[in-house]
Amino acid sequence: MEVDVLILGAGIAGLSVALKLPSNFRIAVVSKSNAGCSNSGLAQGGLAGVFAEHDSFAHHIRDTIKAGDGLCSERAVELLVNNAPQEIAWLKSCGVPFDIEDGRFALGREGAHKFRRIVHVKDATGNSVIGTLLNKVGEQKNIVVVENHIGIDFSLEGNVCTGCSFFDLRKKTMVFFKARAVVAATGGVGSLYPETCNAEGATGDGLAMAYRAGARVADLEFVQFHPTAFTQSQPAFLISERVRGEGAILLDSEGKRFMERVHPGLELAPRDVLTREIAKAMEGTKSKSVFLDMRNLGAGKIISLFPNIYRTCKQYGIDITRESIPVSPTAHYLCGGVLVDIFGRTSIPGLFAAGESACNGVHGANRLASNSLSECVVFAGQLAGFLRREIPVRSEASDEQGVGMVNSFRLGIEGKAPTDFSSGKKVSPGPMQSIADQIRLLMKDYAGISRTGDGLTNSLAELSRIKTEFEQLREKPETDEGISFEVRNMLLVSELVMRAAVAREESRGCHFRKDFPERNDGLWMKHSIMDKNKKGVCFLGSGELWER
Ligand code: SIN
Repeated sequence: MEVDVLILGAGIAGLSVALKLPSNFRIAVVSKSNAGCSNSGLAQGGLAGVFAEHDSFAHHIRDTIKAGDGLCSERAVELLVNNAPQEIAWLKSCGVPFDIEDGRFALGREGAHKFRRIVHVKDATGNSVIGTLLNKVGEQKNIVVVENHIGIDFSLEGNVCTGCSFFDLRKKTMVFFKARAVVAATGGVGSLYPETCNAEGATGDGLAMAYRAGARVADLEFVQFHPTAFTQSQPAFLISERVRGEGAILLDSEGKRFMERVHPGLELAPRDVLTREIAKAMEGTKSKSVFLDMRNLGAGKIISLFPNIYRTCKQYGIDITRESIPVSPTAHYLCGGVLVDIFGRTSIPGLFAAGESACNGVHGANRLASNSLSECVVFAGQLAGFLRREIPVRSEASDEQGVGMVNSFRLGIEGKAPTDFSSGKKVSPGPMQSIADQIRLLMKDYAGISRTGDGLTNSLAELSRIKTEFEQLREKPETDEGISFEVRNMLLVSELVMRAAVAREESRGCHFRKDFPERNDGLWMKHSIMDKNKKGVCFLGSGELWER
């Protein structure tokens, strides 16, 4: 099939790029699973933007840069902050039923934000945004959504990306898409860890494919853990930071409020600080969780603000209006990704990246809560604007020029929950699954919340043993090709995360090295960059990133 723009990933970034392009572009959005099963769909908190009376762009910029711990690109942050309000308004105009109070957006508060800034739809914002965007996409005859296709490799003609090969997971056949521009918007890497609140398919596919094609990747050591996921569900169900923003407190297993002695922001301290303190509190009391207590909010407020959290915990036998919730940190968000400029251009002409799979420097070493969905829409606008200017316009789309395939989905605005948290994690049995599990354990033990140089070096050696096992298994005719494409990506991305983490001999943002516990600006206020044509990890200052 031939299209103008091929987008891998049907999260908020991918769908927003598709919708922001003119209707005379033929667009394919290809999703590895069912459209709607994305990290975006699971986002609870909302979108950060400046709306509150005493807030300002300068405050939001300052909070983002402070959270980013010295590695944010100021240009990207300014773009994010200055454009977020109008992009949130765009989502509203698409039909997202944001919560409104006294005629204005109701604003939630999250960690490290000086003001209330989080625009939301109850506590299931991502699900609602995705449902709305999918419905909009369904109305466009120039956009086709293709589900259950995993990307294999980008194809290059000379050094230009001109398409991508896929494996159809249902029919078990190869498919090729040719395109004038290809956008990787495949989300994050939470599924490289055993405990994650990410969608099951978050295995860094676009990142692995871009690296194999020769694109530069940046800042992969910065994997953010969310401090408070419900420990009794599998996959991990997030207990949104907005709960703490409304006044919920954290207690250790002995009932002590431990953040008081650690950080003036208490339960709204930056995520990396909170995550490490929770891990310490769990270790100190030899317990598998700490407890989030929101009873002080009162039952009425809890149920009206957080109906999804209330319902889900109830399914597991916990009434959060009367009991505290057992929580622990879980892999949540990759701050780095495929290196892009402010238009989403990677180092390969014709290949673009957006959303969590991209790194435009906006998050630096640690993402400020709820900046990610705003980033998806703002930089989707940047990317679509660039393509509109750069790709010669066709005449108006007609039925003949439409993409010519029937969309295979329809979601209501309320949508169905993208993941059924009561059914447990879907596991594909067999030896390939055991390889995936070995990778996840290594990532948890050595590339998790805290790391050491020795641990990472040993785990890289272990990873290489697992890779040999994988190659042998892959040759066997009975091996499921679909799973092996995914595990191949998991192996590569895990290796890249470990290599970046071992190279950065300091602690910064969400990268914590026990053997180098301090931030060291003199040596390390730089981005880690890798590309397959150069050995090792190279560190570049923000100003040097695009020098060729
Ligand atoms: C949350 O609701 O706590 C998640 C928000 C985010 O990660 O941005």
